[in-house]
Parts: sequence; structure tokens; C-alpha cells
Amino acid sequence: MSATTIAITGKGGVGKTAVTALTVLALVEHDWRPLLVVDADPNLNLDATLGISAEDTVGAVRERASQQRGSTESGMTTAELLEYRIRQSLVEGEGFDLIAMGRPEGPGCYCYANEILRNVLDQLSGAYKGIVIDCEAGLEHLSRRTAGDLDLLLVLSDPTVRGLQTARRVLDLLREVRTSVGEVKVVLNRIRGEPAASLMEAAERLELQIAACLPEDEQLTALDAAGRPLTELPAESPLRQAVAKLVTGWLSQNGILGSK
Ligand SMILES: Nc1ncnc2c1ncn2[C@@H]1O[C@H](COP(=O)(O)OP(=O)(O)OP(=O)(O)O)[C@@H](O)[C@H]1O
Ligand SMILES: [Mg+2]
Repeated sequence: MSATTIAITGKGGVGKTAVTALTVLALVEHDWRPLLVVDADPNLNLDATLGISAEDTVGAVRERASQQRGSTESGMTTAELLEYRIRQSLVEGEGFDLIAMGRPEGPGCYCYANEILRNVLDQLSGAYKGIVIDCEAGLEHLSRRTAGDLDLLLVLSDPTVRGLQTARRVLDLLREVRTSVGEVKVVLNRIRGEPAASLMEAAERLELQIAACLPEDEQLTALDAAGRPLTELPAESPLRQAVAKLVTGWLSQNGILGSK
């Protein structure tokens, strides 16, 4: 059986990495593990957010492999060797393994490295209960299908109309791309108290159904400012609890959590 895949997307800076990290922590806490965590953002920071360090990336592995082209090694094809090395770049965390995409090599595009990653994800997915992907701000991974088929896509927005407009674009794009998504949830992040009426009106105009509101959390800001991992966010943090409720609630509703 292949792993359940959850991806987090949205406009730049809306909290994708923070929510991805808190999703991973919540799932591991609920003993829904092991997880494969994919940092698909070239500006890698999911590893530090989760308190570990990813030293290698798919992009870097690919670049080294292209420089070594011609030197044969143990009869493997170039693609096999790449896949082997990408597997070696996995970093182990508490209840999860992390793989980082990194930057594409040179001026080229991600396509080839993405295809290799896709193969690796397909092969590895049987070993994991779930895959959690922190997407980059663009919609590349959805349009290029790097992420493969998704079971749940969280489209995050900050409490701004621009954030909501980006969320709308993601939903529109999903109709055009080949990525199949089981369920999409639009989630507002960084809400103080109740979301403003004007924001909810904008959501209505854009025909967006808001599935959940995540609170602004000053402890998170403080940890981030100090460069501390989000694993240090106390269990009673309202944000940590809200993310846990959102993702474990979805897993339970779909009969995935609890069916150990
Ligand atoms: N609910 C929240 N409460 C307080 N601060 C938050 C919250 N969510 C995110 N932040 C802060 O907002 C900033 C951006 O968050 P994050 O890096 O997770 O966003 P991102 O969407 O991954 O950004 P990028 O597009 O650059 O990858 C960080 O400093 C983070 O601590
Ligand atoms: Mg990020």
C-alpha cells in the first residue's frame, strides 16, 4: 500500500514550513510513523525547523553525478546511481526521514532531478505511513507533478486578500494539471482572535471555503527569531494544537489514523 501524501502550499512567507514541521510533529506524536518528509523548497530550512541538519540535497547529488559522467561505477546506470545516492542523502529524525530537493543544477531546470525524486518517492513510499511535502511558494511542484498524487493539499494563506488570491490561483491551477488531489483545504494562518469580516467577505467573493484558522503564535516567532527548532514549541501551544487537530482530524475522518 502506498503512503498517504500530504502537501502544504501557499504564497511566500505564509507559514508553509512552520505548518509542515508542526504537521510532522503532530503525526509522529500520534504514532503515525515513520514519515518521509520532503523539503521541496530550494531555500532549505525545513531541516533546521525540525531540529536536524540535511547535508545533501537531490540537486547537489545530481550536480555531482553530472560532473562525474563517464566514470563508470559498479555497473549501475546513471539513473540507478543517482537514485542510490539520493536514498543515501536521507537524514533520520525522530519518527521521520527527511529528503531535501535543493537547487536545480546550473541554469538547467528541475525536470530531470524531479523525475528522479519522483521515482525515489514511488519506491520509498511503501516503507512509510505518510509523506509530508513542504512545497516552494511557486506552483511548480503541482504543475510538474513532482509531488505525484496527493491525498491532502493544505493551501495556506495569511490574513491578507493577496494570500487568498494566491490560494484561489492554486485551486484554479489544480483543475488544469495532472496532479490528482484527494482533498484540498484552504487554511488561514496567523489569525489573531477572529478573522476580520472583510477578509471573510473576500474569501466568499473568491469562492474559497476556509477549512480552518491557525492562530498567530508569539512563541513561534520568538523561537524562529532565535533560530531554535519548532520542536521546542510547548505541547500546549495553541498553534501546535490547531495544526494537530487539523491533520489528525482529517486522517481520522478518512479512517487512516487509528487503522494501525
Ligand atoms: N501562526 C504563526 N504565528 C506566528 N508566526 C508565524 C506563524 N506562522 C508562521 N510564522 C512566522 O512567519 C515566518 C514565515 O514562516 P515560514 O517560513 O513557515 O513561511 P513559508 O511559507 O515557509 O515561507 P517561504 O515561502 O519563504 O518558504 C516565520 O518567521 C514564522 O515563524
Ligand atoms: Mg518555507
